[in-house]
Amino acid sequence: MILDKKFEDIILNVSSRAALASSYLVGKKDKVSADKAAVDTMRTELNKIDMTGEIVIGEGELDEAPMLYIGEKLGSMSGPNIDIAVDPLEGTNFAANNLPGALSVIAIAGKSNLLNAPETYMDKISANVLEKGVIDLDFTVKDNINNLCEYKNKKPTDITVCILDRPRHKKIIEELKKLKVNLKLITDGDVSGALLVTDKKYKVDLFLGIGGGPEGVLAASALDSYNCFFQGRFLFKTDVDKERAVKMGIKDFDKKYELNEVVSGDSIFCATGITSGDLVSGIKIIDNEFLSETLITHKSTGLKKIIKMKQKI
Ligand code: FBP
Repeated sequence: MILDKKFEDIILNVSSRAALASSYLVGKKDKVSADKAAVDTMRTELNKIDMTGEIVIGEGELDEAPMLYIGEKLGSMSGPNIDIAVDPLEGTNFAANNLPGALSVIAIAGKSNLLNAPETYMDKISANVLEKGVIDLDFTVKDNINNLCEYKNKKPTDITVCILDRPRHKKIIEELKKLKVNLKLITDGDVSGALLVTDKKYKVDLFLGIGGGPEGVLAASALDSYNCFFQGRFLFKTDVDKERAVKMGIKDFDKKYELNEVVSGDSIFCATGITSGDLVSGIKIIDNEFLSETLITHKSTGLKKIIKMKQKI
């Protein structure tokens, strides 16, 4: 096994240290600095690991991002070949404005097991459903809700749908209102949004809508460990977007990706809270120690839990 259990602690340390670094910038109205702090720390920690690592999802292409860019090689170059997807600060607005839900997120997998997602939008859907044909990106909103109601033996009024509150979702939101389902409109942070379907305690039955492609791949890694349903389809606006996608090996621009085409084999996912949100609590600093909460999943070991840690700063 490439990702043996020791990688759980290693990746937990990476995301919690990145979250701590960003936490010092919470509420400072400076998205760029809050992001940079998380990026710098994540990169430093990743470079300490005995692995031949490569960023497949990061801060962008080399010309846009000097650190954690797509293709950057990280680690001692002496261990297993590992693909790395990172979103060191997911929810830059949340961190800058001291709002709930900022996370430090990372997923790792064996070589070529994570879809190389371009920096473009993705239409996504997730639910805690195993069977195919219940929900689907290509079904109408009405069909998805009706099928989900039948599958879960619930009425639409007992169903809650999570979606980013964006003008582009106006039609979907109107349709959902007509169907009388409950809405959980989120202002940002759709990695967390997609993961709210994993456990009944979050009271979300369906997540859908358009958000970041990289965020979709990261969420899919955790959803895979929960045996949940996920589909995604990239949305390419410009020719530059398409050229980049081709370079990443994407041939069919309209392809609908199933979960096992986004992430396959083993993967470890960690999301540490920077500010407290639906999934996890934020960083708390007490003297020279910090408390963190991380949602960790590991496909092959079945690990799926929130780990609270107290570490020396
Ligand atoms: P950032 O952390 O990069 O600001 O992203 C936050 C986020 O809300 C993501 O969770 C989501 O996928 C994306 O932005 C949605 O993009 P947009 O704000 O353009 O609708």
